[in-house]
Amino acid sequence: MNWYRIKTALIGLKRLAALSEDDKQACIDAYKFFQRMQDGEQTATEDETKAVADYYKVLNNLLSVFDLEKLYIPPQLDESQGLYGNQLLCERAVLEELDLQHPKASHLLDMGCGRGRVSHHFATLTGGQVSGYNIDPNQIENAIDWAAECGMSDRLHFKVGNHHEPLEYDSETFDGCFSFQAVWPFFKKEELDAHAAEMYRVLRPGARYACSEYLLTPHFDWNNAEHVSLHKAFLPTLAATQSMYPADVSAALERAGFNVLLSAPSKSAAWPICEQKRDLILGGRKVIRALEAVRILPSWVEESLDLLQSGGQAWTDAEKAKIADLNWRIVAERPLV
Ligand SMILES: C[S@@+](CC[C@H](N)C(=O)[O-])C[C@H]1O[C@@H](n2cnc3c(N)ncnc32)[C@H](O)[C@@H]1O
Repeated sequence: MNWYRIKTALIGLKRLAALSEDDKQACIDAYKFFQRMQDGEQTATEDETKAVADYYKVLNNLLSVFDLEKLYIPPQLDESQGLYGNQLLCERAVLEELDLQHPKASHLLDMGCGRGRVSHHFATLTGGQVSGYNIDPNQIENAIDWAAECGMSDRLHFKVGNHHEPLEYDSETFDGCFSFQAVWPFFKKEELDAHAAEMYRVLRPGARYACSEYLLTPHFDWNNAEHVSLHKAFLPTLAATQSMYPADVSAALERAGFNVLLSAPSKSAAWPICEQKRDLILGGRKVIRALEAVRILPSWVEESLDLLQSGGQAWTDAEKAKIADLNWRIVAERPLV
C-alpha cells in the first residue's frame, strides 16, 4: 500500500469520526428510504435525490478507507490488476470513445463526478480542461481540494449540480461528456428525455457522450421473482435509486437528437473486483470493530458494512446471471448539423 492510499484512508477515518449527528442520522434514514423504495413505496425524485446526497456524504468517506475513492467498480479488463488499475483501463477506453480531435484544446464534462479523480485522470491524459458536477457538496469539496493539491485548479472545475435540473453550463461548451455509474441509476424512465436534451445542448456539434454505467440487461425480467428479489437486495448497495434498460436510455438520447453509435455490455465482468472488495471490507471490519470499541467510530458503521456485504453477494449473483451490468457502454454523438 503506498503513502497516498494510507493518507486517503486516514483522512476518510478522520472525516467519518467528525461527522455530525445529523449527517449520521440522515445517512441511516437514506438507507432505510432505499429499502422502503425496494419494498414498493412510491417516492418522489426530489426525495430520492436528497437521500442519495445524504447517503453519499458518508459513503464516500467510508469507501475511501477501502481504496474505493473513485466510487465505481470497473470491469476486470486485466486480471493482473486490482480495482485501481482496472479503473484506469476502463477510463482510457471511455476517453478513446470520445474520439477527441484536439485533446489539448478540449473541454470535457464529467457528469456525477464524485471526488473528481476520474476528471483528474482525463485532464492528465488530454492535457485539456475538465468540468465536473455532483449533487454532494462533500465530494465536490474533496475534488476542489485535490485539484488544488495537484496544481491543476486552472484545468479542473468542480461545482455542485443536479442531473434533474438544467445543467449550469452554456450551450455548446463541451467537446465531450462522460459518466461512470453516476447518471442513469438516478432516473425514472419519464425523466430521461430532459437530461438527454441538456446533454445535447451543452455539447458542441460533432461531440460525443461515452459512459460506463449501471443498467439492466435486456435479459432482466420484472415478472421473474428471482430477478426481482436479487434486484431488491443489490440496488441499495449500489446506492442507486432506479434501474433502466439500455434501450430506454438510447431512445431518449435519440429523441434528443443524438446518433447512438454503440450500446453494448461491458467488455468483462465486474463481480471479481466486487468480491475482492468484499473480502477487503471483511478484513477491515476487525479494525472498524476496534475503533468502535474505543468509540472513535459509531456502531452503525459496522452495521452499514454488513448491508453492503450482503447486497454485494446479490450483485455477484445478478451479474453472473447476466441480468444486470455495472459497466454497460453507450457512445452517442451530436451530429455536426
Ligand atoms: C457510483 S458514484 C460514481 C461517482 C463518480 N463517477 C466516480 O467515479 O467516483 C455515483 C455518483 O453520482 C452522484 N449523484 C447521484 N445523484 C446525482 C444527481 N442527481 N446529480 C448529480 N450527481 C448525482 C453521487 O453523489 C455519486 O457521486
